[in-house]
Amino acid sequence: MNKFTPAKPAGARSVDEITGSRRLRRMRKADWSRRLVQENRLSVDDLIWPIFVVDGKNIREPIAAMPGVFRLSLDLAVKEAERAAKLGIPAIATFPNVELGLRDQTGSHILDPENVINRATRAIKHAVPEIGIITDAALDPFTSHGHDGILRDGIIVNDRTVEQVAAAAVIQASAGADIIAPSDMMDGRIGAIRDALDANGFQDVAIMSYATKFASAFYGPYREAVGTAGLLKGDKKTYYLDHANSDEALREAEQDLAEGADMLMVKPGLPYLDIIRRLKDEFRMPTFAYQVSGEYSMIKAADANGWIDGDKAMLESLLAFKRAGCDGILTYFAPEVAAMLKGKAHP
Ligand code: PBG
Repeated sequence: MNKFTPAKPAGARSVDEITGSRRLRRMRKADWSRRLVQENRLSVDDLIWPIFVVDGKNIREPIAAMPGVFRLSLDLAVKEAERAAKLGIPAIATFPNVELGLRDQTGSHILDPENVINRATRAIKHAVPEIGIITDAALDPFTSHGHDGILRDGIIVNDRTVEQVAAAAVIQASAGADIIAPSDMMDGRIGAIRDALDANGFQDVAIMSYATKFASAFYGPYREAVGTAGLLKGDKKTYYLDHANSDEALREAEQDLAEGADMLMVKPGLPYLDIIRRLKDEFRMPTFAYQVSGEYSMIKAADANGWIDGDKAMLESLLAFKRAGCDGILTYFAPEVAAMLKGKAHP
C-alpha cells in the first residue's frame, strides 16, 4: 500500500474537460485504423544495397564486425545482384576490398579499368541489366594510408585528389556505372566529375553526392570490411563535416547542387535525421540516407544478445528515415527487409 495518496484537487476537471473531447488515441485503437492513418511507409523501392567485393572465385568471407555481411568474389556478387533484382531492390552500391599490394600513396589503382570495382560493374550489368549500379569514386580503399585524398607531407592535396576522383568517375561510367557517388568530401569534386562525365559522353550518368558526410565513429565496421582500419592514421576531420554542425551541412549541399549533383545523401543516418529534414525542406531534391555499418552492427549486436528485437528495430530505423524526408536509404539490411516486405501486406 502506498502510504501517500495525493489529494484529488477540488473541482478536478474530467479528462473530457481537459482534452476538450479531442482524444488522439481514437485512431490508434485498432490495426485497421492505424493502417488508415499511417503517414509514411517503407517500400522495397526505397532500398539501395551496399555490397563488398573482392577478387577471386567462390569467396564469401564473413566480416566479423558486420554479422550477416560478407566480402564477395565477383561470381557471388553477381548472384547476390540477381537475388536483389528478384526482390525488387532498385540499386546496389559496390565497395572493394583491394589487396594490400595494389594500394599506394595516391590510390592509383582506382584508375585501372580492370580493378575489382570496374569488373564487378561489368559483370553485374551483363547478368542483371535491370538493377542500378552505384560506384564510389573515393580513393580510400585504394590508398596505402586509408585516407580519401592524396597526401603530401601528411596534408590532403584537395585539387590533385579531385582530378583523380573525376578520372575514376569516368572509368567507372565506362564500365557501366549508372550513378557516381563520391564519398570523399573534397571541395569541387561534384563539378569536376560532372564536367569529366559530360566531356566523355556520359551525360546520362547521375551523381549522388555524399553532400553531408560527417566525421563519425559509426564507420568502424566498414573500415574492417574494406581493410582500411589498420592503415588509417589520424582522423578525417579536415574533409568530413564536424558532427556539431548543421548550417555548414546545408552549405555543403547547396554547393554540391550548384555544381551539378542530382541527389543528396546524408551519412551516417539515424544520428543525423535533423540534417535530412533540413535538406529536404530547403532543397526539395532526391534525398538519401546511408544507414552506415556501425548503425547496422549495433542493431545486429543488440539482437544477438537478446536485448532488442532486431527485426522490429530494423524496420523502425528505416521508417524513421522516411519520416525525416528521405526518398531512399542505403542499408546493409536491404535484402533482409526486402524479403520481409514481400511477405507482408503492411509492414
Ligand atoms: C570512405 C567511406 C566510408 C564509408 C564508405 N566510404 C567512411 C570511412 O571509412 O571513413 C562508410 C560506410 C559505412 O560505415 O557503412 N570514403
